[in-house]
Amino acid sequence: MRVLIIGSGGREHALCKAVAKSPLCDKLFCAPGNPGIESVAECLRVTAENVSGLVETARKNKIDFVIVGPEVPLALGLADALQEAGIAVFGPSRLAAELESSKGFMKDLCDRAGIPTATYKHFAAVEAARTYVLEQQMPIVIKADGLAGGKGVTIAKTTNEALAAVNAAMVGQIFGASGAHIVIEDFLEGEEASFFALCDGKTARFFTTAQDHKAVFDGDKGPNTGGMGAYSPAPMIDEAMTNRIMHEIITPTLKAMQDLGRPFVGVLYAGLMMTKAGPRLIEYNVRFGDPETEVMLPRLKSDLLGILFACSQGKLDEVQIEWNDVKALCVVMASDGYPGSYLKGSVIRGLDRAEEIQDVSVLHAGTTRNAAGEITANGGRVLCITATAPTIKEAQARAYSAVDQIDWPEGFCRRDIGWRAINR
Ligand code: AMP
Ligand code: GLY
Repeated sequence: MRVLIIGSGGREHALCKAVAKSPLCDKLFCAPGNPGIESVAECLRVTAENVSGLVETARKNKIDFVIVGPEVPLALGLADALQEAGIAVFGPSRLAAELESSKGFMKDLCDRAGIPTATYKHFAAVEAARTYVLEQQMPIVIKADGLAGGKGVTIAKTTNEALAAVNAAMVGQIFGASGAHIVIEDFLEGEEASFFALCDGKTARFFTTAQDHKAVFDGDKGPNTGGMGAYSPAPMIDEAMTNRIMHEIITPTLKAMQDLGRPFVGVLYAGLMMTKAGPRLIEYNVRFGDPETEVMLPRLKSDLLGILFACSQGKLDEVQIEWNDVKALCVVMASDGYPGSYLKGSVIRGLDRAEEIQDVSVLHAGTTRNAAGEITANGGRVLCITATAPTIKEAQARAYSAVDQIDWPEGFCRRDIGWRAINR
């Protein structure tokens, strides 16, 4: 079949590499893609937010199946528009994508379905939010209701910090319309994990787990980012815990979505806090994680394209999902200044040398080419260096030896990715 993958990050590079290997794939396209993706797919110049442009491009290129990487096009209704055009798609409808694009919707659904999550309240008026904050114990968590690129969450240690976060979202509008409504919830203590389940609307199946590193600096210090590195699987989620999470969180969610007339098709990515009292849902994402995908897919033994297509056809129960007995770890290289402001255009060298290291793959996350054809930085998160090995520790050593081959003075990375798993 002719396949189109939407997006331009490290996640989409990993998806493209996996789909390109599939015997079911006759021709692979990516929109808009990046210079790394160009070596496995034909890149089409349409941005991921241009819903009508993407549908038109898919029609023109006779695409049979579309896989959507990021959340924004899903929240804009790309899956609905493709289906109307008669094109199969992996990814939820606009209404089902509200599990990610509206924290209020997600929290209310959890409440009704009895899914364990932090106690919360949803606010549309700043005065009510302020009054609530004054009555609460600290720390407390303030969240913009809508999409905010992973930056809409404040963990406030003091009442003043909490009031400032409420003001910034609701009065200062630093998240635009996404922060007009907010959710205020209790702080959960524990270790975080990313849990992925595939869903075809009626059946949910466990895919795999990973752990991300959200803070920008070593030792989990500094502001949160989109993710500075990851490994897979997450050692703390064993088979018994997997079954518990499927039973207590994923399956009831799928059922509740079906009952609401919003059947969920795609990957349900649960951000979990593993608390002393058990797993608690922090958030849902309705897409693959980035950088989690970069460490999950190199472990997959079964054919990814076959699995995702079966999902889109309501036939998830007919496929095998098997894994190789390896671990994977990735290190994100970012532009100096990220997650704050950063410069674009610096030249990156040594990518070929890095990829010569055994079982290493250099995934492009935010790169472009300059007029001379050199690879340059074009975003906050720029590269994702992924390695597989029999243990996380060996994967970490491989990934960092590849990082050390890269000549990019304007970039940085964390040097401790994997520390939790290795210390266990
Ligand atoms: P979210 O965008 O909802 O995933 O939140 C971003 C990050 O904030 C999460 O990955 C957690 O590290 C943290 N966080 C969010 N909600 C809570 C909570 N209720 N308790 C503790 N940490 C949280
Ligand atoms: N790694 C975090 C995310 O994809 O949302």
